[in-house]
Amino acid sequence: MRDNFNTSFGVLVAMAGSAIGLGNLWRFPYLMGTNGGAAFIIIYLVLVFLLCLPIMMSEFVVGRRAQTNAVRAFKVLSPKGRWGIIGILGVLASVALISFYCVVGGWTIDYLVHSVTFSLPDRGSSEGFFAAAVSSPGRTLLYTYIFLALTALVLLAGIKDGIERYTKIMMPLLFLTIIIIAVRSVTLPGSGAGLDFLFNPDFSKVTANTFLDALGQAFFSLSIGCATILTYGSYVKKNEKIVKMSSLTAISDTFFAILAGLAIMPAVFAFGISPSEGPGLLFVVLPDIFDQIAGGGIVAVLFFFVLFIAAITSSISLLEVFVTFLIEECRMKRRSAVLASSGVCLVLCTLCALSGGVLSDVRILGRTFFDLFDMVSANFLMPMCGLLVVVFVGWKMKREAFVDELSNGGTLKNRALYNTIFYIVRYIAPIVIAVIMVFGWL
Ligand code: PFF
Repeated sequence: MRDNFNTSFGVLVAMAGSAIGLGNLWRFPYLMGTNGGAAFIIIYLVLVFLLCLPIMMSEFVVGRRAQTNAVRAFKVLSPKGRWGIIGILGVLASVALISFYCVVGGWTIDYLVHSVTFSLPDRGSSEGFFAAAVSSPGRTLLYTYIFLALTALVLLAGIKDGIERYTKIMMPLLFLTIIIIAVRSVTLPGSGAGLDFLFNPDFSKVTANTFLDALGQAFFSLSIGCATILTYGSYVKKNEKIVKMSSLTAISDTFFAILAGLAIMPAVFAFGISPSEGPGLLFVVLPDIFDQIAGGGIVAVLFFFVLFIAAITSSISLLEVFVTFLIEECRMKRRSAVLASSGVCLVLCTLCALSGGVLSDVRILGRTFFDLFDMVSANFLMPMCGLLVVVFVGWKMKREAFVDELSNGGTLKNRALYNTIFYIVRYIAPIVIAVIMVFGWL
């Protein structure tokens, strides 16, 4: 018997765990603030719900209908075609992404350890501290490997007893913790400027780039294009509601992103620092701030805990794509599949981890390994996989089959909605993804 998720809540936390990740913390708040605040949120919500959600549901439908791994799923649904290539792209995308995601996950453990032992850098020395964390080979490899090993440990226990069990504990804690940090942040004197930055609607800041940025962010944040939703979908029971589950995932992901904004930006502005994004914001700017606020030591522990949980629940979903593939296509036991997939990732993670130090001069296409994997997954593999999934669902799979899956074999009556979703997938989604891809390349 194939393992599966036991409860609806289990499916939801696993999917939300995949969606909520570093992207919500290091990019969304900055994008929101620099693209017109509330104006950006409106655009983002429209794009998430009208476009990205149907794409996500397509992956979900393929996985749940076929009840097998990413590569075989397409073969099951279209035995004569060569659509299995989509699954291969998905597996490659997830492996490429996890290779550098684990490195950043490693930094979160490094900082968590330092915050628990109250040995984070003092104000002014954060930059040097981060440079040392990134470039010292022993230190970065140690934490990267620990992060990967923890990911693998959860997967060893399987879907129900591993992923479902642990994400059920981690996700509520994640929300609770970010709320505590947000409250601390907005109650700092001078935090108003940060709230202004985040929410003040300013339509004059909305440009064509705003739409592209919002779309790219929505795509990445909802974990589309790595076959993770497909793989999780394949473990979901036939009576779960796909539209509802996917919508709830998108709602929690967006809600968390806004909470992340509240946790970060008011504090940044309260100290008169100009807003930024990326690792520099999380690992340099924020430690500086924690050093200056009352109770900052505890906030730091909570914050790096949030980063760690957000990162690991995403990496769990990424590694499971490869694990499920190995179990079913190479007839491995789960244990061997987890070991083999982690072994491959270990090698790739090592290259990415050393990119900040000893391998920093090794360049491929002008990029370090870390940047290369980032670029290949975000600009090529993910959009390509996403594009082919919607083309497959919109043009190859019959509309009846799609509607049948969304309506749980006709038991849910909302045909008009299901048909609309289908037509978005068929006509609009491919064009939009192609646009993101082309602009990503430019
Ligand atoms: N959604 C994650 C984030 O926002 O950080 C990243 C991600 C995880 C993308 C899993 C794709 C994926 F399959």
